[in-house]
Amino acid sequence: MPAEVFGERYEFLPRPQILTFEEIQRLTTIFAAAGVSKLRITGGEPLVRANLPDLVAGLSKIDGIDDIAMTTNGYLLAENAKALRDAGLDRLTISLDSIDDDIFRKMSGRSHGPANTLEGIRVAADLGFSPIKINVVVQRGVNDHTLVDTARYFKGTGAIVRFIEFMDVGTKNGWELSQVVTSREVIEMIGGEFPLEPVDPNYPGEVANRYRYVDGEGEIGVISSVSEPFCGGCTRARLSTDGKLVTCLFASGGTDLKTLLRSGADDREIAKTIGGVWTDRDDRYSELRSEDTEFKAGASGDDKVEMYYIGG
Ligand SMILES: C[S@@+](CC[C@H](N)C(=O)[O-])C[C@H]1O[C@@H](n2cnc3c(N)ncnc32)[C@H](O)[C@@H]1O
Repeated sequence: MPAEVFGERYEFLPRPQILTFEEIQRLTTIFAAAGVSKLRITGGEPLVRANLPDLVAGLSKIDGIDDIAMTTNGYLLAENAKALRDAGLDRLTISLDSIDDDIFRKMSGRSHGPANTLEGIRVAADLGFSPIKINVVVQRGVNDHTLVDTARYFKGTGAIVRFIEFMDVGTKNGWELSQVVTSREVIEMIGGEFPLEPVDPNYPGEVANRYRYVDGEGEIGVISSVSEPFCGGCTRARLSTDGKLVTCLFASGGTDLKTLLRSGADDREIAKTIGGVWTDRDDRYSELRSEDTEFKAGASGDDKVEMYYIGG
């Protein structure tokens, strides 16, 4: 969310346009009945939503949901971590693109450094969230010279740093292929300082490739979303804050479940719509991008939804 566009005076969606907690819980119950068992609350920034622990508490009681995670920038985490834990949040992923104060400010577009986020991570670890994952989106010439320092900071703490290839999501991040630092380069950089060895995935289709420090001080992950796309193994459905069902990070729209919900449709009807979208999906944007050597950002259209809308 570039600061020039989303400044202090930016007007976000009026409340009636966003799903209520009750509506999110009802849709989740329908998704769970269709086989969904893992949830991730993301954004935008989830911790700016008032009373978020109430939502987590409601979701954690739904039959079939056995894992609830959250991705956050961590800015408001220290004061919210306990309520989230008590409400039933199982796992946390915190975005922190650099441990370096100046680079963090530059990348977040705000005047604060990483101190709040680091404090949030510390509080969450003390509360027993484990393992905490740290997401670092790597951009050449922006934060790639700080990756080793970021890895060093978390080495031996139990947190797992995951380095993500910079993706051409949306239309506002000025993406160019030359900015992508591949996972292979990241492993060479970190491994040059701290020897690494590959580890088997925790489960089939895990998006991060795992590596452990040979000295036993934990592990890191790399997510090769550009150099080795994993569309074929993707099982994620995304629900936007205004109730659109989106099946791909690179979609240009979604299916409006909010209108259906508010028109009085029963659960069976909503389940049928969701089932239809799921069965018909054929998104494989990242694979097509890799096949197209002439590929330019926005090649699939300039109406791609933005990352802040569907949460990563
Ligand atoms: C869009 S954010 C939303 C949640 C929350 N506001 C946060 O900052 O973690 C979710 C994840 O997407 C990642 N992300 C954002 N833009 C990306 C890009 N262009 N390529 C790869 N990952 C990206 C972020 O690092 C973050 O971990």
